[in-house]
Amino acid sequence: MYVVRPAAAAAAAFLGFTLTVLGGTSSTAASPSLPSRPAAPRAAADVFATPVVYAHRGASAYAPENTLDAVDLAMHLGFDWVENDVQRTGDGELVVIHDDTLARTTDVEEVFPDRRPWRVRDFTAAEISRLDAGSWFGDEFAGARVPTLRQYLDRVQRNQQRLLLEIKKPELYPGIEADTLKVLGAAGWLDEGHVSQRLVVQSFSADSVRMVHELRPDLVTAFLGTPSVTDLPLYAKFTDRINPWHTTISADWVAAVHGLLGAHGRTMEVDTWIVDDAATARKVRDMGVDGIITNAPDVVQDAVDLF
Ligand code: G3P
Ligand code: CA
Repeated sequence: MYVVRPAAAAAAAFLGFTLTVLGGTSSTAASPSLPSRPAAPRAAADVFATPVVYAHRGASAYAPENTLDAVDLAMHLGFDWVENDVQRTGDGELVVIHDDTLARTTDVEEVFPDRRPWRVRDFTAAEISRLDAGSWFGDEFAGARVPTLRQYLDRVQRNQQRLLLEIKKPELYPGIEADTLKVLGAAGWLDEGHVSQRLVVQSFSADSVRMVHELRPDLVTAFLGTPSVTDLPLYAKFTDRINPWHTTISADWVAAVHGLLGAHGRTMEVDTWIVDDAATARKVRDMGVDGIITNAPDVVQDAVDLF
C-alpha cells in the first residue's frame, strides 16, 4: 500500500537543510562556541533542495498519533524525521501525547470513568500505561500505549530516525523544559551527533523556546507561530526556526525569515504545518519553505519531489 523509500532520500533532504542553514547575509556573527561546519551559499542549495518532510505525530494519517506504531510506520515509509508532543504526568513522568486530556486518544473514559476531565497531569504514569491508545484509531492498533518520552526516544533511536520534539502547553507544566532536557540527556540525545543533526525542540511558547535555548545553547530550536516581519528579529535572538501554520504565510514572509540569522548565526528556516495534500505541498514549496510537517508524509514527498 505504501511506497517504501530509501532512508538516503531523507538524508539527502537533511543535507539540503544543512547547506541551507549555513548560508546567510546578515552581519550577525556566528557563535564562536559552535563547531565549525562547511559553508555553502544559500542560493546554491536552493537550486536543488526540496523541503524536508516531517511525519507529524509520526505517520499519523495511517497510525494512531504519537504512538510507537506511528513512529515505526514513518520509518517503513522511509521518513526519518518524526514530530511529537511532550507533556507531564501527575507524578512527573514525561509522556508523548498531544491533547492535555486523555479522552480523545485513549480509552480513559472506560478505564477511569470517575476521573473527568481526564487531564494528563491528574494521572500517574502507571495509570496512563494501562490505557489503550490505539483502538480509537483502528482495531489493528489495539493495545498501543501512550509512550513515555524515554520509550519514544529509544524507539526513534533504534529506528535511526530524527526528532522534532514539541513541548506542548508548557504553561501547564512549570519546569518541563529542564525535565525534557534531563530525559534527552539520559537517553543519549544531547551528544554532539544528536544535537547537530537529529534533534530540534519547538514550542508555541516563546518563553519555553527561550528557556530551552538558555539551558542548552547548542540545541536547534523552533518557535511555532507566525510573528510579524517587524518582530522576527526578536525571535532570531533565541531561536533558529519559525514554524508557522501554512495558511498564515506568503513567499514574502518566508523570504523575510530567510533574511535573518538565528540564534546560531545561521540563516533562519521555516518548517510549515499541517500540509496533507499535494497542491498545498507544492504551494508552500514554491514559497521557499525549508520543511513541511505532515500527517501524510508519503503524499507530501511525492508532491514536492523534483525528479
Ligand atoms: O509541528 C507543528 C504542529 O505539531 C503544531 O500543532 O497542534 O499539531 O501540535 P499541533
Ligand atoms: Ca505538535
